[in-house]
Amino acid sequence: MGTALVTGATAGLGLEFAWQLATARHDLVLVARTTERLDQVAGQIRAAAGVQVEVLAADLSVPDDVARVAERLAVTGDEPDDGRRPVGLLVNNAGFATAQRFVGGAVGAELRAVDVMVRAVVQLTHAAVGQMTSRGRGAVLNVASVAALTTGGTYAAAKAYVRSFTEGLTVDLRGTGVTATVLCPGFVRTEFHERAGLDTASIPSAGWLDAPTVVAQALADVRRGVVISTPSLRYKAGSALLRILPRPAVRAIGHYR
Ligand SMILES: NC(=O)c1ccc[n+]([C@@H]2O[C@H](COP(=O)([O-])OP(=O)(O)OC[C@H]3O[C@@H](n4cnc5c(N)ncnc54)[C@H](OP(=O)(O)O)[C@@H]3O)[C@@H](O)[C@H]2O)c1
Repeated sequence: MGTALVTGATAGLGLEFAWQLATARHDLVLVARTTERLDQVAGQIRAAAGVQVEVLAADLSVPDDVARVAERLAVTGDEPDDGRRPVGLLVNNAGFATAQRFVGGAVGAELRAVDVMVRAVVQLTHAAVGQMTSRGRGAVLNVASVAALTTGGTYAAAKAYVRSFTEGLTVDLRGTGVTATVLCPGFVRTEFHERAGLDTASIPSAGWLDAPTVVAQALADVRRGVVISTPSLRYKAGSALLRILPRPAVRAIGHYR
């Protein structure tokens, strides 16, 4: 896979993707908003793993920033006077909880969620698969959530989009040498809930997954060309249940707070 580009690479699952990919000898392009954290992570990974690490500070809710990341993904390696290597694995991971009711909530937060978790995913995937199909190899890993099967507001709807979009993409990609995988984890211990001010006290300890296990499973599934990656038996069973439950029952559990 050569070089991997990971969005949201400074914390949680993205940081874990960066470390596991570097350990597997991939060069990296790390994307997030916070420059200091990007530089710190890049320095630590270069020192520990000896791989090349580029950083791209970008807010994926800002169209010009998304365009800069897309431009990096479009690099084929054939451009004259451009030392940058093509990206062989795109991990669309950046995301956040909207953590508010749609009715009465701030519309800006809802639109930012769509921009980061839908619009940017579409634009970055488009740039990546263009370059990858022209080279006949590569992979895209889109991070959705088990919430894609629920009715938890704009967040769940965005993740449902990512899941459906990725499944459709695999059909488009048949015979190209490029694969797409959608990761659908349950609760993972990261900065996600704290950043959104979500109370996690009611989540039973058996409901939590740890980032290293989720990421190892996801990368193994990417290597095997799996389309939907759902780490852990618990969440595989939960997802199967969500798919067969009557929708009124799903709606009853998919509300906020
Ligand atoms: N944790 C869970 O329980 C869970 C469950 C299912 C799915 N997921 C999904 O997993 C993915 C990663 O979440 P996480 O749990 O690892 O969250 P996290 O620990 O809060 O990390 C989020 C990462 O995304 C970056 N980010 C946030 N907003 C951004 C923006 N506008 N532009 C660019 N980068 C941005 C953050 O860096 P900066 O702040 O520096 O930008 C950070 O690196 C998300 O898509 C999330 O929906 C999480």
